[in-house]
Amino acid sequence: MDNNELIKKIETVLNNAKAEFNEKINEKNLDEVYKNYLGKNSFLNNISRSISEYEPEIRKIIGMSVNNAKIKIEEIYKNLKEQIKYENSSNDSYSKIDLSLPGVKITQFHKHPITAVLDETVEFFTSMGFEVVEGPEIETAYYNFDALNIPDNHPARDVWDTFYLKNGLIPRTHTSSVQVRTMETKKPPLRVIAPGRCYRYESVDATHLFMFNQVEGLFVDKNVKLSDLKGILEATVKHLLGAKKTRFRPAFYPFVEPGLDLDIECVFCGGKGCNVCKFTGWIEVIPCGMVHPKVFEYAGINPDIYKGFAFGMGFDRLVMLKYNVNDLRLLYSGNMDVLNQF
Ligand code: PHE
Repeated sequence: MDNNELIKKIETVLNNAKAEFNEKINEKNLDEVYKNYLGKNSFLNNISRSISEYEPEIRKIIGMSVNNAKIKIEEIYKNLKEQIKYENSSNDSYSKIDLSLPGVKITQFHKHPITAVLDETVEFFTSMGFEVVEGPEIETAYYNFDALNIPDNHPARDVWDTFYLKNGLIPRTHTSSVQVRTMETKKPPLRVIAPGRCYRYESVDATHLFMFNQVEGLFVDKNVKLSDLKGILEATVKHLLGAKKTRFRPAFYPFVEPGLDLDIECVFCGGKGCNVCKFTGWIEVIPCGMVHPKVFEYAGINPDIYKGFAFGMGFDRLVMLKYNVNDLRLLYSGNMDVLNQF
């Protein structure tokens, strides 16, 4: 066979291989066809083995064409092998489906506990005719303090551990800043709640963070009395926390008069005394009071005609009590092992 003929023969062998692989291939004869073309004594491997017998220039050309043919055949073989394997495995799993087995459980996502309780709170208040309002988180000292009857340089300001920004604004220390903002834009009668984030310069521990949630409430009308405040807030802690016993204590907040704290009987010890309630049997949940006449004046509302009450629930605290969480930081950790328990 002269060299040209040999090269043609190599091409023919490659084409034959292609055709054979294409036509009658199945799992059994795939390896057989492969062996015929690339086995030890195959035509192509025989040429490879005797390549040194050719003259150097010819050797190069023949070598290239043999290698090329071998690579192509190898490639076709591998692809077919994969294909057959894939077909078998999918047949297999299909025939192996056992309809009596329980299915794979789909993960059920749910709201973060803070969001869930907030939604419940909003629903409860809106059912009593309250409307949800919002105010900015970065506040002026005027709305955070002055308009709430806490004048500049008055020691009462120290109660709120305040962050001050370089431009004089403050991340609000409480949602009470929304009170005057709301009364300036809406005319009484008013029933609003204002949920939102607040910020204080606190050292972080199990019950304090530098950021927390509050829900402010404001009720303004002509004949609002302290008994209205009591009725609504008692209903609130009963609804949200299942509280059985409540009590009101006098407290001082410059923007209410009188000012009160609503306590519930400790849900952990039933009033006997434990380390959650610091052995008092009571837990403070809602600071509140009757809107101070000065606050009405700042908002442009006549305090001789209108009365009102306000409250500010520390909301994260409420979530801790409701779900028996002993470390506030857990609620903000984003730890799924914790959050999946709710
Ligand atoms: N804003 C007060 C605080 O954060 C709570 C409060 C709100 C008290 C409304 C009375 C009335 O401490």
